[in-house]
Amino acid sequence: MRVVFLGPPGAGKGTQARRLKERFGLQQISTGDILRGNISRGTPLGTEAADYVQRGQLVPDDLVTAMIERELEHAPAGFVLDGFPRTVAQARALDALLTRRRTPLDAAIYFKGERSALVARLAARWTNPRTGRTYNAITNPPKVAGIDDDDGGPLIQREDDRPETVAKRLEVYDRQTRPLVEYYRKAGKLVEVDALASVTFVADRIAAALGAGARA
Ligand code: AP5
Repeated sequence: MRVVFLGPPGAGKGTQARRLKERFGLQQISTGDILRGNISRGTPLGTEAADYVQRGQLVPDDLVTAMIERELEHAPAGFVLDGFPRTVAQARALDALLTRRRTPLDAAIYFKGERSALVARLAARWTNPRTGRTYNAITNPPKVAGIDDDDGGPLIQREDDRPETVAKRLEVYDRQTRPLVEYYRKAGKLVEVDALASVTFVADRIAAALGAGARA
């Protein structure tokens, strides 16, 4: 199963990518997590990407596409790409890469949801920077505030979740990423899910769509 996740900030892509990984044993490739990992380790990629990520802008296509090519070299046939592609140029590069590997994409899952609810989610999000697991202070809080239930590590609020940066990320999404909805619809790969439904409902909808090969 080869799947990409598409949708605005806060739509639940990371949450569902982790679920899909657990449920189907797919490799989860989350570009935001990989970039943040590189930034915190101070790698050359992280140094180049840091300013873009902190300002809520997209990291240049060539850097991110090269990063994904490296990730996919080690990936088995099945994966979920969370946060890639984010521009038409990235989508074309992915198509070319998968065609070379003779492993076409099965589906593009589009998380659709009303803006104000997504912005509220980001304001309440707490993340384990080590594992990428997220909580929501209102709807899904950890047992002890600021501490991950799983590994007892500290939870943080992401720097790019500040309201002014969230506004920028949404604007960038509308301009550069939203056109991919039509790109994948035309390719017959688009599956729409209601991002505002419960985590379990969304997970079941994705699993059913993938299992049945249904397309919206
Ligand atoms: P990235 O980390 O990918 O951020 P994003 O796409 O903006 O998405 P988020 O991680 O903010 O949200 P999400 O949809 O994963 O929601 P989550 O599951 O956490 O990218 C960050 C930056 O990296 C970009 O701005 C850019 O600079 C750079 N970058 C990344 N990829 C790039 C690329 N391809 N090209 C160029 N640059 C790139 O959920 C949010 C909250 O809601 C959580 O608190 C969660 O617990 C809660 N929640 C989730 N689902 C539900 C639900 N169904 N009901 C109630 N609460 C829920």
